[in-house]
Amino acid sequence: MPLSCHAFIAASLDGFIARPDGSIDWLEPFNAADEDHGYDAFIADKDGIIMGRGTYETVLGFGQWPYTRPVIVLSHSLTVDDIPDSLADHVAITDMDPTELVAALAEEGWQNAYVDGGQVIQSFLNAGLLDQMTITRVPVLLGSGRPLFGSVAADMHLNLIGSRSFPSGLVSSTYRIAANR
Ligand SMILES: NC(=O)c1ccc[n+]([C@@H]2O[C@H](COP(=O)([O-])OP(=O)(O)OC[C@H]3O[C@@H](n4cnc5c(N)ncnc54)[C@H](OP(=O)(O)O)[C@@H]3O)[C@@H](O)[C@H]2O)c1
Repeated sequence: MPLSCHAFIAASLDGFIARPDGSIDWLEPFNAADEDHGYDAFIADKDGIIMGRGTYETVLGFGQWPYTRPVIVLSHSLTVDDIPDSLADHVAITDMDPTELVAALAEEGWQNAYVDGGQVIQSFLNAGLLDQMTITRVPVLLGSGRPLFGSVAADMHLNLIGSRSFPSGLVSSTYRIAANR
C-alpha cells in the first residue's frame, strides 16, 4: 500500500512558518492548553514523522521531546552521531531523497506520515509525494521569514476538504493535492 503523506503546519497570514532566524515565538500566544487546533486528531493515525533538519533543530531546542511517534530527519549534514543518546530510540537521520524514503517506509509498513518543515514540504510537493496539507493560518503579518511555499514547476491544484476556525483567530484548512500519484 502506498504511504500517504500529510503536512500539518501553521503559517502567518503572509505565508511564513518561522522568522528569518527560525524563531516561532509568534506562535506562543496561540499555544493554549485547552485547544490543540486539531493536532491530536491529526496525529492519531500517523505512523511517524518525516521532518527537515531545520525543524528538528528547533524542536531539539524545546528541551522536552514532544513526539511519541518515530521521527525521521532528512539531512545531508547530520549523521547518527549527532543524535543525543536520549533520542536514539526515537530519531533516525537519513540522506535518502524523498521518493526513496517514502518507498522504504511503505515497505516497512508505514501507511500515513506527517511531513514537517517548509523546505521538506516543498520537496515533497514538487516530487508529487504530498497527499494532504492542513495549513493553519495565524492572524499575524511577519513581513519576512522562512516561507511555507516556494517555486513550483507548474500550477498545482488543491481541493479543499474542510476548514475550521477557532476562537483564537486561527483558521485551519485541509486540502487534498489534486491528481497526486
Ligand atoms: N509554523 C510551523 O508550524 C512550523 C512547523 C515546522 C517548522 N517550523 C519552523 O520552520 C523552520 C524549519 O523549516 P525550514 O523550511 O527552514 O527547514 P526544514 O524543511 O525543516 O529543513 C530543511 C533542511 O532539511 C534538509 N534536507 C534534506 N533533504 C531535504 C530535502 N529533500 N528537501 C528539503 N530539505 C532537505 C536540509 O538540511 P541539510 O543541510 O542538513 O541537508 C535542509 O536545509 C524552523 O525554524 C522551524 O521552527 C515551523
